[in-house]
Amino acid sequence: MIDSVQHKAQLRDYFDGAGFERWTAIYGQGELGRVRRSIRVGHDRMLKQAATWLSEAGIGPGMRVLDAGCGTGLWSVALAEQGCLVTAVDIAPKMVAATRARAEERRVVDRLTLLTGDLEQVRGSFDVVVCFDVLVHYPPPSFAALLSRLAACSAGPLLLTYAPRKPLLAALHWVGGHFPQGQRRTEIQMIPPQAVKTMLATAGMHVRHSTNINHGFYHVQLVEAYPDSIFS
Ligand SMILES: C[S@@+](CC[C@H](N)C(=O)[O-])C[C@H]1O[C@@H](n2cnc3c(N)ncnc32)[C@H](O)[C@@H]1O
Repeated sequence: MIDSVQHKAQLRDYFDGAGFERWTAIYGQGELGRVRRSIRVGHDRMLKQAATWLSEAGIGPGMRVLDAGCGTGLWSVALAEQGCLVTAVDIAPKMVAATRARAEERRVVDRLTLLTGDLEQVRGSFDVVVCFDVLVHYPPPSFAALLSRLAACSAGPLLLTYAPRKPLLAALHWVGGHFPQGQRRTEIQMIPPQAVKTMLATAGMHVRHSTNINHGFYHVQLVEAYPDSIFS
C-alpha cells in the first residue's frame, strides 16, 4: 500500500514519461489505433459538453480560469483564445512545457500563468475551475482532498470529470486506455456518484449538471457544480 505522497510522485513520473508520449498522441492530430482514437473522440465530446455549459453560464473574456491538471494545454489555450485569463497547473513539467509551447504557437501566452506543481497546493480565487480527467487517478481520500481544494478556489462553476463505478467490462476498457500493462488496474479509481455528490456537498458545492460521456473506451461522468453561497 503506497501513501498519497508516493502515489502523486508515481503519477508525476508517469505523466512526465511514458504517459506524456501517450497523452500527447491522444490529444494530438496524428493517426491512432482503435482504443486511443475512441478516447480522443470521447475526450473531445466531453470538452464540447463542458464548453456548452460554460457558455450557458456566461463565461467570457477577462474571466479568471483555473485549469487544474492542464495536460498538454488543449483547454487552457482554447479558453485563452476566448480572452480568459488562465492559470494552468500540472504536476508533470513536460505537460506544463507542452501547454506553454501550444500557447506560444497560438500567440496567447500572455493570458496564461503556468505553474508546475500539485493541485493540492494551489491557492487563489477563480471565476471558473475545471479539472478534466485528473481525479480519475485518485482514490476517495485523495479525491476528497483535491476536490475540497478546487472548491475552495472556485467562486463560480467547478467542472470536473471522474470515473463512475461501472460494470467490470467498461471499467477494464477505461483503465486499459490509460496505463501500460502492469499498472492498469491499480491506477484508475472508480468512485460511486453518490460519494462524489457527498464530497461536493461537504466542500460547499452542489451539482447543477451531471452527464455520462461514453464513447468506445472513454467513460467519464462530467459534473458542473456551484458554490452553495451563490444561491443563498
Ligand atoms: C489524462 S491528463 C488530462 C489533461 C487535461 N486536463 C485534459 O483533459 O486535456 C491528466 C493530467 O493530470 C495531471 N495531474 C495528475 N495529478 C495531478 C496533481 N495532483 N496536480 C496537478 N496535476 C496533476 C497529470 O500530470 C496529467 O497531465
